[in-house]
Amino acid sequence: MLARKSSQTKASEAAVPNDRGASSKMSLPGRRVFWIAQRLPRPPRLDPPPLRYKPTTHSHTPPPLRFPVLLRWCSQQQQQRAAARRGAASGARMSAAAGKVVCVTGASGYIASWLVKLLLEKGYTVKATVRDPGLVFDDGELDGAPVDWSPVSGVRRLWYAARTPLLSTSSSLYDHYAFFATLMHGAVLIVHHLGSWDDPKKTEHLRQLEGASERLNLFKANLLEEGAFDVVVDGCEGVFHTASPFFNAVTDPQAELIDPAVKGTLNVLRSCAKIASIKRVVVTSSVAAVAYNERPRTPDVIVDETWFSSPELCEANKSWYVLSKTLAEEAAWKFAKENGINMVTINPAMVIGPLLQPTLNTSAAAILNLINGAPTFPNTTFGWVNVRDVAIAHILAFEVPSASGRYCLVERVAHYSEIVDAIRKLYPDLQLPEKCADDEPFVPVYQMSKEKATSLGVNYTPLEVSLKETIESLVEKKFFKL
Ligand SMILES: NC(=O)c1ccc[n+]([C@@H]2O[C@H](COP(=O)([O-])OP(=O)(O)OC[C@H]3O[C@@H](n4cnc5c(N)ncnc54)[C@H](OP(=O)(O)O)[C@@H]3O)[C@@H](O)[C@H]2O)c1
Repeated sequence: MLARKSSQTKASEAAVPNDRGASSKMSLPGRRVFWIAQRLPRPPRLDPPPLRYKPTTHSHTPPPLRFPVLLRWCSQQQQQRAAARRGAASGARMSAAAGKVVCVTGASGYIASWLVKLLLEKGYTVKATVRDPGLVFDDGELDGAPVDWSPVSGVRRLWYAARTPLLSTSSSLYDHYAFFATLMHGAVLIVHHLGSWDDPKKTEHLRQLEGASERLNLFKANLLEEGAFDVVVDGCEGVFHTASPFFNAVTDPQAELIDPAVKGTLNVLRSCAKIASIKRVVVTSSVAAVAYNERPRTPDVIVDETWFSSPELCEANKSWYVLSKTLAEEAAWKFAKENGINMVTINPAMVIGPLLQPTLNTSAAAILNLINGAPTFPNTTFGWVNVRDVAIAHILAFEVPSASGRYCLVERVAHYSEIVDAIRKLYPDLQLPEKCADDEPFVPVYQMSKEKATSLGVNYTPLEVSLKETIESLVEKKFFKL
């Protein structure tokens, strides 16, 4: 009897697998711990998969046993596995972009958020700069390798670290290091999160984008900090420079608008000039840098990419934002030509359409002001374009080899009175301004050439659709109640 029991024990002991998949013998207390550990509730298998340190199953040579190196190596392993899984899941959608690294400056902004979203959807790895990243390591500590910095990842790693010694029957030095790396990584993530909930608004919407946990790296960078973009553009094939202040109420135009626009653009371009891997830089300029000069703009006039705004006129009219974009584009072209940078500018008109970011940007505010009980509408005529189309145009400007020069983006030029009429048709019950802000004749509409943008592959969303999307988004983001 005793002999039979002991042979049964031996058989069950032999069947207990260790964490490397092989069978091993285990003492009775060890088996109890193993039995209990196996039955502990498992954390949800979120994407990317939890780190499980099984050195013998890796085809790679384990890195030197130093914590920072190991931490980086573990993160890269996680990234590769997650990317492989993602790749298998969405292989059909991944284009030639898969594996390419690009940079987007000012990523938390209205246009840039859409750009980041579409780039991630196409399979790009995006190094995105924000002024206030909230919850990221801002020093490129992990060599730009995409890491899931979320607190969920931290909790999951702590949990796995806690389980690892229970389940593990091996006790190699490597496993101890791997265990501590997991533990430390989890702890660091959580502590970092708790210590940095100052402004999650700036980046939370980016972290939630599809593909962000694997292929979005956030970096802290201010336009006015010399060299701040060096580490970010390093290793990129393309750079999308969108960051530039866009607001009208300024007290010190030079410091608030012109310096960040001009010096910031040159700062980014200087960083790009140092990196040989960069094939093209796409700069977000504006129709502001195109259409504002002494030439008349009337219904028969077609404004196109050959037009340049006049800095003198902008200054005389105190159009500080327009001046900032005009000077920034001028400086960018000069620098690009002198330094052999392949640069393309995208020059959108007023951009509207759905907001991804939770904050209100200036061009969406223009529509909100109209529907929010304003007594009058401005006597102004603008070109209008959808934000999705603007983001697509940026990507096309990078991807299409023959793209060059400037691309104006305007679906339609319309006076504010037409915008109010279009909104009234969409929402007849809305209270909208009946009168113009002055008694002058309406500022005339003009035409803007669509030829170049269309040749790039841009298909414009109709203005009415863009208006509807903007208002729906403003409601969804709780800026307005219908
Ligand atoms: N929206 C339009 O109608 C329109 C039309 C034509 C051209 N554009 C151009 O498109 C670009 C994006 O505009 P947007 O409408 O998306 O505006 P936005 O939402 O206000 O985005 C502007 C971005 O620039 C960043 N930024 C400003 N100053 C900075 C500084 N000193 N250092 C680092 N980052 C700085 C902002 O960062 P923070 O979030 O930290 O402030 C923000 O991410 C701008 O170049 C703008 O001129 C816009």
